[in-house]
Amino acid sequence: MSILQVSDLGVTFHTQDGAVNAVNGISFALQAGQTLGIVGESGSGKSQTVLAMMGLLAKNGQASGQVQYHGQDLLTMPTAQLNKIRGDRIAMIFQDPMSSLNPYLTIERQMTEVLELHKGLSRRAAKAHAISLLDAVRIPEAARRITMYPHEFSGGMRQRVMIAMALLCEPEVLIADEPTTALDVTVQAQILNLLKELQRDFDTAIIMITHDLGVVAGLCEQVMVLYGGRIMEYGSAEDIFYQPSHPYTIGLLGALPRLDQEGGALISIPGNPPNMAQLPRGCPFAERCSYQQARCINDVPTLVNKPGSASAWRACHLAVNELHSTLPEAQYV
Ligand SMILES: Nc1ncnc2c1ncn2[C@@H]1O[C@H](COP(=O)(O)OP(=O)(O)OP(=O)(O)O)[C@@H](O)[C@H]1O
Ligand SMILES: [Mg+2]
Repeated sequence: MSILQVSDLGVTFHTQDGAVNAVNGISFALQAGQTLGIVGESGSGKSQTVLAMMGLLAKNGQASGQVQYHGQDLLTMPTAQLNKIRGDRIAMIFQDPMSSLNPYLTIERQMTEVLELHKGLSRRAAKAHAISLLDAVRIPEAARRITMYPHEFSGGMRQRVMIAMALLCEPEVLIADEPTTALDVTVQAQILNLLKELQRDFDTAIIMITHDLGVVAGLCEQVMVLYGGRIMEYGSAEDIFYQPSHPYTIGLLGALPRLDQEGGALISIPGNPPNMAQLPRGCPFAERCSYQQARCINDVPTLVNKPGSASAWRACHLAVNELHSTLPEAQYV
């Protein structure tokens, strides 16, 4: 049974220049303890997908479709009911911790407030629980540091505080939007290991948004590749890394720096992402695709099962065997 079942999710922003269809027809399911990676270039709709799920779109944005959480649609739920789920059963970690931590409150107050509100704990019990979580994310001297303000922590430490805060109520789902991009590689690796451990301990399902395929390879079982607000390919990490079946995924993998070589050049896919205010009629990737054909310009390819696989999906007019993937496998481990 899925915790989350997203069906035909769409996001439209109303702007002076007209409608921007940032997310189009996204469907997926998330099971307990599973990790789903959402990847794609900047502007592909990664953040708006999860913000829409949580009812956190900007004022000019509108979500359509369904986001079933244990069978209840989050998109049509009254705000009071949604607030009980947000931050409690489903928690989010944002890219910039400073934007979600209140600079005027100590970490203690920010953490205990959540526990008092959602769990009805006494201040004292809340503080003890908060300290145990700061310990869990390896904040040294947690009992002393909990009395500090956010600016007194380094970037990496703040990110850990954010993770601890997100885990306060033992959420079933943790949504992390580029949680490590602002950090150096060593700290990034530590944070990812921490997430893995915490997931094991709490059986949390994770949605990890990243443009870093190395992060996906290290953490995610399922991978969704987005482009132009649409799913290009979806499947297990093995499907995506070893048998990519969409030209965009193949391009992204080609753009992955070789992990076994220092200073390997990052090859980027030629061309630019589409203008979301004027999405092309056909496949959004068509104009950058080296396999482009007339039908790619004219018709949006539907997302269908990859031949021979019940769990992998792709949206491409070309047959898999028409794509000559020459990627050496060992490169992506
Ligand atoms: N309030 C808004 N009004 C109009 N368009 C918006 C608004 N917010 C986001 N968009 C557009 O929605 C599209 C998808 O944005 P989104 O934030 O999901 O990108 P992303 O994949 O998370 O990219 P990044 O990797 O840069 O974070 C972009 O083209 C963006 O310009
Ligand atoms: Mg984003």
